[in-house]
Amino acid sequence: MADAEDIQDAARFHVGVAHRSEPFFLKGCEHLDWGIKNRLANIFDPTSGRTVMLAFDHGYFQGPTSGLERIDLDIVPLARYADTLMLTRGILRTSIPPSYNRGIVLRATGGPSILKELSNEEIAISIEEAIRLNAAAMAVQVYIGGEYETKSIHNLTRLVDAGNRYGIATLAVTAVGREMTRDARYIRLATRICAELGATYVKTYYVPGFETVTAACPVPIVIAGGKKQPELDALTMAYNAVQQGASGVDMGRNIFQADNPAAMIQAVRKVVHDNATPQEAFDLLQQLKG
Ligand code: 5RP
Repeated sequence: MADAEDIQDAARFHVGVAHRSEPFFLKGCEHLDWGIKNRLANIFDPTSGRTVMLAFDHGYFQGPTSGLERIDLDIVPLARYADTLMLTRGILRTSIPPSYNRGIVLRATGGPSILKELSNEEIAISIEEAIRLNAAAMAVQVYIGGEYETKSIHNLTRLVDAGNRYGIATLAVTAVGREMTRDARYIRLATRICAELGATYVKTYYVPGFETVTAACPVPIVIAGGKKQPELDALTMAYNAVQQGASGVDMGRNIFQADNPAAMIQAVRKVVHDNATPQEAFDLLQQLKG
């Protein structure tokens, strides 16, 4: 009898079977601790490895932007289609239901309004506050080549240090000043600097030659939507970006200024998560609008 029990025990313990450990799905993030990986898995979809971030933090420097006049009425209904929300702590506290259970990316720098020199930002949140609000990531504006380049880089590195201490990711947002040429060479420079200085992931603009930007950046990149464009153009930009190595989009105006934002975000999801072509996503958009 004793011998038979031993055999059963050995079977339960699977002696001789190597411990299984799933590789983490995001580029350059394998070395991170469990907490930060768990938060990243609440920003990026582990199945596609990509994200549709809904950005509506514009008010932190430009007040009630067109489409964001009533976050409670116009943005909250879109939250169910987003993998994560990018917003300020003021809007999170006042307008987002705490039952929202995906990742929160908190705007963590600020200062000047559109009436002043925008690049002169400071860190605008403490790490304790980010933890209290259950942030998955903190977003920091980085102005490579701008007047306050060094200051914005210091903002990034301070937030990276604080975030790494507690397992919160840092999203570096490469802001391109008017005096900069928005081309692959500049975007490669800006994104690589952010990654080298510790950003967990980087947000930047889609430019021709984008595959060289993603190839040269050792952490995930998401693209900003930028100014409102015709829907097919915005879907084409998202498609080109993910096909050229982006890990998703962080899109604001092209979603919330669309004539049917709920349909548009679902069309963007089709491109990002299902590799749909721009035309397939556009057809879905028309169908949802109908
Ligand atoms: C400002 C930001 C904004 O949150 C974001 O880029 C705006 O998104 P969109 O350009 O798609 O409206 O980071 O720099």
